[in-house]
Parts: sequence; C-alpha cells; structure tokens
Amino acid sequence: MLNIAIIPGTSRPQALNPQIVSWVSDQLAGRDDVRAEVVDFADFELPLLDEVIPAGAKMYENDHTKAWGAKLDEFDAFIFVTPEYNHSISGSLKNALDFVATEFNHKVAGIVNYGADKGVRAAEHLRHILANYKLAVVRDQASFSIFSDVADGRFAPTEVSAAPFATMVSDLVAWGEALKTVREGAAEDEAAA
Ligand SMILES: Cc1cc2nc3c(=O)[nH]c(=O)nc-3n(C[C@H](O)[C@H](O)[C@H](O)COP(=O)(O)O)c2cc1C
Repeated sequence: MLNIAIIPGTSRPQALNPQIVSWVSDQLAGRDDVRAEVVDFADFELPLLDEVIPAGAKMYENDHTKAWGAKLDEFDAFIFVTPEYNHSISGSLKNALDFVATEFNHKVAGIVNYGADKGVRAAEHLRHILANYKLAVVRDQASFSIFSDVADGRFAPTEVSAAPFATMVSDLVAWGEALKTVREGAAEDEAAA
C-alpha cells in the first residue's frame, strides 16, 4: 500500500484548484494499492519562511514547521496539483516547500498541472525544485487547459487531457514501492554512522 499526499498548489481564494484536487482524489479512490489524502499547506498557517536554519538540517524552531514536516513524513509519495502563475508555480507553494527538505528524500512524486497554457511551464519549474529534495518525479503528467478542460467554471477534463494520469499513477506506485527499500537502506546507514 502506497501512502500518497495530494498537495494543492495554491492558496488563492476561489481558485479552480480544489476542483482538480477533488478529481485527483476521485481517480485514486477505487484503488486497493494506494491510500490518498489531501494535505493542504494552507491548513498549517505557514508565514513567509521564518526558519533560521535551512531545512536540510531539520532543526526546526517553529511549531508550524514541525507540524508541516511531521505531516509530510507520513507519506511515501506526492501528487502536486499546480496552477501556472507567471510561468511558474505559485509563490505560496514555493514558500511551503522552502520550509522542509528531508521529508521528501527518496520518495516519489507526480504532477498534475493546469493553466491558460496547460501549466506545463509550472510543471517544469516544479521538477527543477523537487530534484533538490532527492524526490523522483515520474515522467507522465496530466496537463489541463482552463479553456478546453473547464466548462462554465466547472472542471470537465477531456479524455485526451486526462489519459496520462493513469500511467502517472502506475509509475508512481511502482517507483514508490521500490523507493521504500532505498529509504530503509538510508535509515540503516544513518543508524550505523
Ligand atoms: C497570478 C497569476 C498568474 C498567472 N500566470 C499565468 C501564466 O503565466 N500562464 C498561464 O498559462 N496562465 C496563467 N494564469 C492563469 C491561471 O493559470 C488560471 O487563472 C488558473 O485558473 C489559475 O489556477 P487557480 O484558479 O487554481 O488559481 C495566471 C493566473 C494568476 C492568478
């Protein structure tokens, strides 16, 4: 069983994001090989980054950082649902990511992206950022247009846009299960050091 956190990529009021997060949740609901939970950084009331020591050392001073990090620690895998803002991810998601680091090590992620241009530039930026966490991001990603995959303000994905989601999840599960062994090895090395 792979524990997946679905991470909403924005805190913008009245965003389209919750509809796509809900669709992602629904897609995973019938599977018996994954357990998925929406983990919204907005619930942790993170201010602009206020930790003194960079996150890699995991010497958090603030309760909000400890709570956010402890929640992420529970998961094997992540699906980021990101809009594209100014050709990148939202500032609020980047800020939330900057609080943590080791929580993502040797885990796996998939990306669902959307925007006026389907959000592919945001997804590419996110891949770049996630590489720093030793987080393996699967190749396939679902890309949605706010024009052709939304009708009257409702998210209504076309079959063509939604299709890559299935391969994304099967790679997420395969890589996620394999990386559990890597994490066990890393933990043993740490204990022996
Ligand atoms: C601050 C901001 C910047 C945006 N920049 C882009 C952009 O660079 N490229 C693009 O395709 N769409 C851009 N858009 C359009 C968004 O992708 C679109 O509004 C989408 O619905 C945003 O997701 P959200 O509703 O979940 O916040 C931008 C929207 C906002 C609010």
